[in-house]
Amino acid sequence: MPLNSGPIILGLESSCDETAAALVTGDRRILAHKLAGQEAAHAPYGGVVPEIAARAHVETLMPLVEAALAEAKLALDDVDAIAATAGPGLIGGVMVGLVTAKALALAARKPLIAVNHLEGHALSPRLADPDLAFPYLLLLVSGGHCQLLLVEGVGAYRRLATTIDDAAGEAFDKTAKLLGLGYPGGPAVERAAAGDPAAVPLPRPLVGSPEPHFSFAGLKSAVARAVAAGGHGASDIAASFQQAVVDCLVDRTRRAIGKAAGATALVVAGGVAANGAIRSALGALAEQSGLRFVAPPLWLCTDNGAMIAWAGAERFAAGLVDPLDVPARARWPLDPAADVVRGAGVKA
Ligand code: KG4
Ligand code: ZN
Repeated sequence: MPLNSGPIILGLESSCDETAAALVTGDRRILAHKLAGQEAAHAPYGGVVPEIAARAHVETLMPLVEAALAEAKLALDDVDAIAATAGPGLIGGVMVGLVTAKALALAARKPLIAVNHLEGHALSPRLADPDLAFPYLLLLVSGGHCQLLLVEGVGAYRRLATTIDDAAGEAFDKTAKLLGLGYPGGPAVERAAAGDPAAVPLPRPLVGSPEPHFSFAGLKSAVARAVAAGGHGASDIAASFQQAVVDCLVDRTRRAIGKAAGATALVVAGGVAANGAIRSALGALAEQSGLRFVAPPLWLCTDNGAMIAWAGAERFAAGLVDPLDVPARARWPLDPAADVVRGAGVKA
């Protein structure tokens, strides 16, 4: 390993239904990344069961850490800092990852870095793209979150918009469930969406409203009504639903671009960013708006350990490390100064 390769960061992720460990260097080399999904364990329930998730993290996390170190041919002693997701997320899983990181940090006498899961998503595009400079406008769309953030620097995030009810990924998962497509729903809906996107009239909640917030609850119920009414095939419903989400995301993001002075790029991250129709519509919007469009590779869009290790590397470079009593948080807004949005549900 060259001497000037930058610090080596171990990153742990366990906030939802993905257990992951990765080793990433400060100069953007991914030395190893290991991931274990829990789809099979949650599939019978049609969604993530927190207790089952936490138990699976307990069983899987340390073997993944060991496998990552083995693949990178490193010992824990070679690592410069240990980063873990400290929230927001399902608290049982967050505690498993954070306490594991604390134990490793204590045993190996390494600094601990508590990473906000959303910060992992927000900064991960810079792992894949060394030219992506601050500030940039980030559309973060996942199963738990739907936000537009102006990423001004490490630890400096201005929330321009959030969802007032459900996240976009939740709407995909619910639609998949209604159509009997199974779990996880997003990829299944995308595969099924070969029909006519204009076949089923569906609402575009909040489209045209001045603040760039999101809402998907009404769309979700409209899909439920369309399914119950019968008369439309699953591929038409899936295509119409996906088109409605695309229209909402594009309109809201266009509105946010008007509020994101100085941004050089439009960046999309989070699990829903894996969707091809959403990626291409946002790419076209960026082009019309004179912004560079950055979408990380698919594996980096969904939850993974490398994004936590990389956020750890960015924080480590900025001198941001945490004490061993740092708390695990179920909720942890990236921008604590952001207004609470009227109608907002339980989302962080
Ligand atoms: O970021 P992520 O892995 O986990 C968190 O929610 O933090 O995102 C998972 C979400 C799920 O709701 C899943 O259905 C959705 O991302 N998703 C997709 C696609 N792949 C994953 N949604 C639409 N199209 C996809 N191809
Ligand atoms: Zn996520």
